[in-house]
Amino acid sequence: METLQPKKGTYALEDYTKARESFDWKDVEKVFTWSKTGNVNAAYEAIDRHVKEGRGQKTALHYSDASRDETYTYSELCDLTNKASHMFRDLGVDKGDRVFIFMPRSPELYVALLGAIKVGAVVGPLFEAFMQDAVKARLEDSEATMIITTPDLASRIPHQELPSLKTIMLVGGSEEIGGINTVFYETELEKHPSDDTAIEWVDKEDGLILHYTSGSTGKPKGVYHVHYAMLQHYQTAKWVLDLQDNDVYWCTADPGWVTGTSYGIFGPWLNGATNVVRGGRFSPDDWYHTIEKYQVTVWYSAPTAFRMLMAAPKDILSKYDLSSLRHILSVGEPLNPEVVRWGWEVFHHRIHDTWWMTETGGMLICNYLSEPVKPGSMGKPFPGVHAAIIDDFGNELPPNEMGNLAVQTGWPSQMRKIWKNDAKFEEYFAIPGWYISGDTAYRDEDGYFWFQGRNDDVIMTAGERVGPFEIESKLVEHPAVAEAGVIGKPDEIRGHIIKAFISLRDGYDYSEELKKEIQTFIKTELAAHAVPREIEFKEKLPKTRSGKIMRRVLKAWELDEPTGDLSTMDD
Ligand code: WTA
Repeated sequence: METLQPKKGTYALEDYTKARESFDWKDVEKVFTWSKTGNVNAAYEAIDRHVKEGRGQKTALHYSDASRDETYTYSELCDLTNKASHMFRDLGVDKGDRVFIFMPRSPELYVALLGAIKVGAVVGPLFEAFMQDAVKARLEDSEATMIITTPDLASRIPHQELPSLKTIMLVGGSEEIGGINTVFYETELEKHPSDDTAIEWVDKEDGLILHYTSGSTGKPKGVYHVHYAMLQHYQTAKWVLDLQDNDVYWCTADPGWVTGTSYGIFGPWLNGATNVVRGGRFSPDDWYHTIEKYQVTVWYSAPTAFRMLMAAPKDILSKYDLSSLRHILSVGEPLNPEVVRWGWEVFHHRIHDTWWMTETGGMLICNYLSEPVKPGSMGKPFPGVHAAIIDDFGNELPPNEMGNLAVQTGWPSQMRKIWKNDAKFEEYFAIPGWYISGDTAYRDEDGYFWFQGRNDDVIMTAGERVGPFEIESKLVEHPAVAEAGVIGKPDEIRGHIIKAFISLRDGYDYSEELKKEIQTFIKTELAAHAVPREIEFKEKLPKTRSGKIMRRVLKAWELDEPTGDLSTMDD
């Protein structure tokens, strides 16, 4: 496989080599005000610190969508998030309370999220695409006391069924919601001062954010991160995103996904960068326009997006001046070598892959500007991170042998718990000293890691992580569906699409209308990205004797591969 040689980065290859030998996370603490004052708050470090250190007039945020176009300096964000912190305090939000945010990207989302962190709340961002059941499951599990949303989305919050939920805050609304305390963001914010006296100084191990994510079994799990994660966000944004003072940085991810918080909020702002947020849906024209409009220099996106750009008509590219770009990165799914080659051809830059997970809170294995890139490889561990390929007993495997991708425990942004689910949490650490990712990979002789697959049934579709169980559970709630098994089917653009195998209840027959009806059912009850694009009707589904649907067999059928050991299968 070819190697792409580096262009000029801010840090030399020797800097990384040296850091790999002698890096100490404790040294990173010195960057923050908290090392001098002992007062910890990640939102303060991300915003206020820059104002205190004389960078208040620098642009912190460029926000735009189809109807808005706004710019905020660090000083302005500091004032707004302080106002928000007073507001949350007055509304009774206490340290440790879960405050959820369920709305499309907008400056208000970012202000509310940081304001809530300032009072010590644990914030829970949700994708706007979530429908009632998905919203309910997350608010129920987290026992959130407040949710910030828009009038359009509020109807998806079944507050009568959520005893812990005390307040719905509406952004851009004026009509009360019956049966629950409704407050209006704009009116409320207006009433409050912008001094920093409402900031709650917490312990570095106190809760910061709760991201719900999917596994192969059970409900979505609440991955809990603490303020100390800021060390990882800061240092990886510096050394991997290579954020420098004059950079304009665009992370395309929504804050509903961990990439949109770790690297859409904390990473860039802890480094004092200028951050671009573009609202609205993906379109190649809109994205290229955004790069040109803001003269974006550093761009962090995902393989599915790159593949969609690749599939767009070629002449689109010639309409835009993308010469501001100097560094492009990717995360979330395997980055195909042909995408890297395409990036090289059209942008004249390498696309740098990064590997990490919701649970890891920040980047762990990465490609760096000053290091050669091997297209198809995720890169090398970040300094201070020890990743390895281990067998099921914790023995490290030699180069080129496939096994469990694992990381020695103890990096700063490692999750601290799975909300109210200790058993799930412990599964990740079943081998003492190691975090087991659930991915399989190998490492080559040069220390580069190569992704091979998931060793559970989690589906990565268009960059989103989807658990088959949640979809199966919803499918069987449809009156026509007796049983359902859901798998990921390889797809050129989306990585995988969701495919459901379904058996029907007596009295129902397969029809195109029924298929559409079932798809609509998932879309309206769960979320659009959870809809099975393909549904296949079967008389019976393969099951174990204990009644578990064998997704592995469904997958083998789908891919025309051997089904393997069927001894546990029911007749
Ligand atoms: C997959 C949060 C290949 C992997 C960022 C992981 C990747 C899961 C890569 C986490 C990559 C992430 N190459 N696969 N560079 N990055 N993954 O929590 O299977 O939504 O376990 O991602 O995405 O998904 P999550």
